[in-house]
Amino acid sequence: MKMCSLTRVTNRAVSTLGGNKLKVSAEEATVADQEVTRKSFTDLQRERHKQANLSVLISCPPYFNENKFMKYLSQHGKVANHFFYESYGTHAVVEFVERESIDSLRAATRVPHGDDECVVPFKSRLLTLKSDRALDRTSIQCLRQSAVPINELIQKLCKAQDINEQVYTLLDEYQLTDENIRLRFLVSSLIKDVATAYFPEATVDPFGSTVNSFGKLGCDLDLFLDLDNIGKSSTGKAAGSFTSEYLMKHVPSGRVVTQRILSVISECIDNFGPGCTGVQKILNARCPLVRFTHQPAGLQCDLTSDNRIALRSSELLYIYGNYDNRVRALVFALRCWARVHGITSAIPGAWITNFSLTMMVLFFLQKRNPPVIPTLDQLKSLAGKDKFIVDGNDCTFVSDLNKIPPSKNSESIDVLLCDFLEFYGNFDFIKNGINIRKGKEQNKPDSSPLYIQNPFEQTLNVSRNVNHSQLERFIALARESAWVLQEQRNHSSERDKQAWGLAAVFLPSVSQGFGKGKRKKRKGFASERIKGLLESLKNTDKAR
Ligand code: CTP
Ligand code: MG
Repeated sequence: MKMCSLTRVTNRAVSTLGGNKLKVSAEEATVADQEVTRKSFTDLQRERHKQANLSVLISCPPYFNENKFMKYLSQHGKVANHFFYESYGTHAVVEFVERESIDSLRAATRVPHGDDECVVPFKSRLLTLKSDRALDRTSIQCLRQSAVPINELIQKLCKAQDINEQVYTLLDEYQLTDENIRLRFLVSSLIKDVATAYFPEATVDPFGSTVNSFGKLGCDLDLFLDLDNIGKSSTGKAAGSFTSEYLMKHVPSGRVVTQRILSVISECIDNFGPGCTGVQKILNARCPLVRFTHQPAGLQCDLTSDNRIALRSSELLYIYGNYDNRVRALVFALRCWARVHGITSAIPGAWITNFSLTMMVLFFLQKRNPPVIPTLDQLKSLAGKDKFIVDGNDCTFVSDLNKIPPSKNSESIDVLLCDFLEFYGNFDFIKNGINIRKGKEQNKPDSSPLYIQNPFEQTLNVSRNVNHSQLERFIALARESAWVLQEQRNHSSERDKQAWGLAAVFLPSVSQGFGKGKRKKRKGFASERIKGLLESLKNTDKAR
């Protein structure tokens, strides 16, 4: 059964990571998967940027004829790829083969004019399709861009054969799809169009969970505005006895430069950026940022600058996520577990973040015997002579996945899941910090409740925000869930009657066991919604 679920996941993983292949057969997938997921991070990002640069986002009317729409587009050039999705109406992402096709389409696009409203004449690649034949319509297949609700997920999990299959089912349901990644890169490219109006050499790169292989449908879009190329493009060559220099404003620090630039870009996004709403400047944060919603894409975006190290840590996570299938599977399961119990949250606060939780999973996998994944120092030694230094911080590690020897560990996901919960349920957080560079506990250098060393800025704690009570909630939940999972293994015959395995640790009754001292046999299910769901499961089983 494990094989069956793996094949299914592999199949989807191709569509997620690989780019052009949207539908492939299972046999093809196994071959393509190795080929595709072994791609270097840089090559994959380059490919995604290229697709985005050739794409437009079109807001469509409620009813229209898809064939005629495609014919209309093909007047401007060959379409390489397209798909539809819903977000405040139907939208289409259309990728052309050549950039000239976009110029041609834009040349044929008119500026809107209303009787009582004026428009800001900023021409972007976000267009509105007008159709005068409402009756001439075909049904449009819209692709889902958000994760299934938790109760639907639990139902699906209960139909799996074992915990391994449950974990891979969750991964399959939650991971970003190829189309969603395309949409994210397109938004990044639209924001770049705003930034390059001032700074023609600027680039905008997605980072964080959009690209690190741990992104869940609906996660935020982290964007990095990179202005470093501006310095690089001027040679400053001497001609005769003269050299020339740009006359530029001087400000007290690099931080002030970042704040000023982000401030102006945020004004542009707010005033000119079609579809961008709720723009907030959060410029006094440790890492200044601009937060906004890209409504047509249905994405919340965080735009930062001067954050190159985060791009590097995204690549590191990508390496770990694509090194061994179990890494992503385990991280997704634990992210979901933490989210349903309010251990992590979409709102910033004293909670453990997804990024911290991912580091905890990586550390745990490094501590297995034999280890599931290598330490960061081992990845560094595999990089050979290629050094990567950012602001004096050594960010060197191997970027070619093929150079990393395969794991000697063959433990199954259910064992790893259960042991993760036990490991952190008993971890000495008072004395020890987590260090993925060494793959060893380190003495905590300060009194933060949870100390996770930033792998590149080694004096920083990734989880500095976490307070005592949040850490205690995490520990209590880990213990309770480990116990529930163990019980499940011992009473596998009761599966038909209740949510079991992974589904059981997602139920609210698990977190209700917090701090009760002794572990009683679980009483009923607290939530009516989940109760109803389980009833429906029993009925479905009877009907089979
Ligand atoms: N980051 C970091 N140190 C932190 C927080 C974040 O280096 N204390 C970097 C990481 O590279 C992280 C990225 O910033 O991946 C984006 O942060 P965030 O959006 O909080 O995390 P994601 O990994 O994107 O996860 P999520 O799906 O929750 O957005
Ligand atoms: Mg993020």
